[in-house]
Amino acid sequence: MKFATFVALSVVTGVFASPQDAGTSTITIPGIGDGIQLGPIALCSNGRIIRRSQCCKWFRVIPQLQTEVFNNGQCHKGTRRVLQTFFHDAIGFSPALTNAGQFGSLDGSIIAHSGIETTFIPNRALGPTIEALRSIAIRNGVSFGDILNFANTVGLGNCPGAPKLEFLAGKSNSSQVSPPGLIPGPGNSATTILNRMGDAGFTSDETVDLLAAHTIASQEALNLNPASARAPFDSTPAVFDSQVFIEVLLKGTVFTTGGPGIQEVLSPLPGEFRMQSDFALARDPRTSCRWQSNMSKFDFLDADLNLIANTHIIIGNSALVASRFRAAVAKLSVLGFDRNTLDDCSDVVPNPRPQATNPHIPGGLTNGDLEGFCAGTPLPTFPESPGPLATVAAALP
Ligand code: HEM
Repeated sequence: MKFATFVALSVVTGVFASPQDAGTSTITIPGIGDGIQLGPIALCSNGRIIRRSQCCKWFRVIPQLQTEVFNNGQCHKGTRRVLQTFFHDAIGFSPALTNAGQFGSLDGSIIAHSGIETTFIPNRALGPTIEALRSIAIRNGVSFGDILNFANTVGLGNCPGAPKLEFLAGKSNSSQVSPPGLIPGPGNSATTILNRMGDAGFTSDETVDLLAAHTIASQEALNLNPASARAPFDSTPAVFDSQVFIEVLLKGTVFTTGGPGIQEVLSPLPGEFRMQSDFALARDPRTSCRWQSNMSKFDFLDADLNLIANTHIIIGNSALVASRFRAAVAKLSVLGFDRNTLDDCSDVVPNPRPQATNPHIPGGLTNGDLEGFCAGTPLPTFPESPGPLATVAAALP
């Protein structure tokens, strides 16, 4: 197709209209298969223009994921389970063990070798997620490593405030079963977690940044009391924000119903589950300052924001958390791979939903309930929500 024809087609069909609609457009341009490369750009069969034609096929995977895994675009259990599966597959990587002949990485081995890897305790509930992803990968002829990575970018985008994650495609479908014992557990000490994450190549700062994942997380395996099913780790589990960093630093007073569960410590809000490992990392001298900087506020000079001269404006820090998380996840997604051998298909990833809420102290509590552990750095103050102490609702099923 000549370039002029293609431009005319695009204008007629209005295909540039909304990046949010990526992959859900029903416009099909006959005769170009999965896409054609036009020099530095490619035209996909749904009319979208991206950089590489080999990435076009991912557009048709988006609606399948949204329908079959994410319950029509929700930030819910499917979203959380995909993120957890992504982490558990990727962190099964250890240069120390690789040197000893045992392997891992974000290679999709949790899908390819699910018979073995779902026997690992942290993976025992991930079977349905793994099977849903396996089916979509096979149907679309993509590798298990790629589908895990891509599903994570699409799922997270359903959570308001989440970053738009990088997506590098083209991993082969060969993988080796992960050695057991590499996934951090809720009863691990800060030292054990930092050593494990360090072995996989992550600094203590990056480890804290990755724990932003727990802003959309909940438990199902640590307290089996039905009243505590899907008890979330912060009060806003359907939003990707910095609340988990704030709430893990609030004084603990209460266990979840039927608790304490396994490795549960006191949380500040009824219905909220606090894991011992999050508690420990928020208070450990190696990680407490990064933790506090993730819950903290930015103090921008008005000049940066074109506001009234000589005033400072305090705003929430969720955008910082999201960008730090994005960087750490980008590293996680290529552990064990040379990123230069992969195709950057990030322009296929749908735009995440914008965030509407700001960091705050939940109702019934005050800034005085915050405990700081970063020596020499005072805790910031946050807006205090009105109203009494409320029970945190379970995360979405
Ligand atoms: C490094 C220390 C970490 C430990 C000890 C840990 C441990 C846990 C545990 C025990 C649960 C509850 C599972 C259940 O009861 O069903 C959980 C939930 C979760 N974790 Fe982590 N995790 C860690 C880091 C991460 C990271 C880095 C990510 C992602 C990048 C992640 C993503 C999640 C998600 C999304 C859930 C929620 C699952 C759901 O709601 O169904 N975790 N984590």
